[in-house]
Amino acid sequence: MINLKNKLQNIPIDYSWSFADKTIKDTSYITHGYYTYPAKFIPQLASRLINEYSKEGDIIIDPFMGSGTTVVEAIINNRIGIGTDINEIAYLVAKVKTTTIDIANISQEFNNIEFSLQDRLNGNYDRFLEKANKLVPENDRIAYWFLPKQKEKLLIIFARILEIKEDNIRNFFLIGFAQILKSCSIWLQKSVKPTRDQNKKLVDPLTIFINQSKKMIKKHSDFERILNYEIKQHIDKYRIVECNDSRKLPCDDNKASLIVTSPPYVTSYEYADLHQLPSLWFGYLRELAEFRKKFIGSAYKSKNKIELNSSLAEKIVTQLGENKKGREVRNYFADMIESFIEMKRTLKKGGKACIVIGNTQFQGVEIMNAEVFQEQFKNIGFKTYNVIHREIPSKMLPSTRDTKTGQFVKVNDKNLKLAYPTEYILIMEKI
Ligand SMILES: C[S@@+](CC[C@H](N)C(=O)[O-])C[C@H]1O[C@@H](n2cnc3c(N)ncnc32)[C@H](O)[C@@H]1O
Repeated sequence: MINLKNKLQNIPIDYSWSFADKTIKDTSYITHGYYTYPAKFIPQLASRLINEYSKEGDIIIDPFMGSGTTVVEAIINNRIGIGTDINEIAYLVAKVKTTTIDIANISQEFNNIEFSLQDRLNGNYDRFLEKANKLVPENDRIAYWFLPKQKEKLLIIFARILEIKEDNIRNFFLIGFAQILKSCSIWLQKSVKPTRDQNKKLVDPLTIFINQSKKMIKKHSDFERILNYEIKQHIDKYRIVECNDSRKLPCDDNKASLIVTSPPYVTSYEYADLHQLPSLWFGYLRELAEFRKKFIGSAYKSKNKIELNSSLAEKIVTQLGENKKGREVRNYFADMIESFIEMKRTLKKGGKACIVIGNTQFQGVEIMNAEVFQEQFKNIGFKTYNVIHREIPSKMLPSTRDTKTGQFVKVNDKNLKLAYPTEYILIMEKI
């Protein structure tokens, strides 16, 4: 077995990057809390990087924007925010979170929806149900996740949202709807992974949809209040979000000043699975297997051209061996280098790429993502500007590594010596 040394772990932890004192309220200000997006980073982290490494008017990109944290922070800090994500749900969330809408119009529409839903859901809703049934794509998995009565009520709400004529307002309520789906389903509430809980206590869909909408309207008016007037008036010029691959950024060559992103991890999450509830309702997911393949880090794809551009990556892949895991990790590093080359194309000379990434373990092999990325960046024309080692504070129980699988697991034995997991912020400069 080749002994691979993780050099970055010797960098002292900089606790000022943990933001351990931040509460959920702090991290969900303005539009940040609209949708619970797995693996989202906290806005304070994106904001600090943007303020330290760019100036007003600069272009900031997040090629793996997820729920749009970087893009929101870019525009409220008077920058231009650009983002892509391959996941349609992420795209819709990011778009709604960064779209300016007349608050009086949303409130008016909300009153109309609330009134008609009270009427439809409390009366005899069979005639609405028939129409609503036609709007949701046929998929057995809806019945797998939702009990029949819950599904009917959700159908009525969903159909009413689709009646809204103005796109931005309809999308706004669709995100509110997406956010309540998990609570209304039998998906184990505290798990991000798709697990059923047959004993789950069910909530009334209308009540939580109304509450969620009210919360979002209030937050949207906070967002519009702090947005610079010029940006607010010409939002489409200042924020560009696309549902696209990170290797096709909507930005001309040598124009961006900064990239702030947290890339997907190799198979640590199947992103496609995590978002399946709204994807099912919105018709984004016909064939789960096909849907999964688009995601970097998915175990469900195969690649022909395999150029890793990193000797460390080659060693890690060799250690894993010629098996499924080895191929997955190889595909992952190959996809990532392509994404870094695209980042380089858009960045100006001297521009910085801030990559938030932690290491993982498979079959006892440490997958040193941070060090591999650093080497890949260097090999394509970047130098290391700084590496920050940060602790990821957990509001729940701390984690430790399972000695067999190497995965982080939650523990509650106070006698164990525990460490919070840490990750790195690589700050690479284009030379
Ligand atoms: C760690 S998450 C980013 C979360 C984000 N920082 C936030 O605050 O919400 C990584 C994202 O990469 C996206 N992704 C995976 N493969 C992609 C690809 N080929 N192109 C663009 N995005 C991709 C996933 O959909 C996921 O949203």
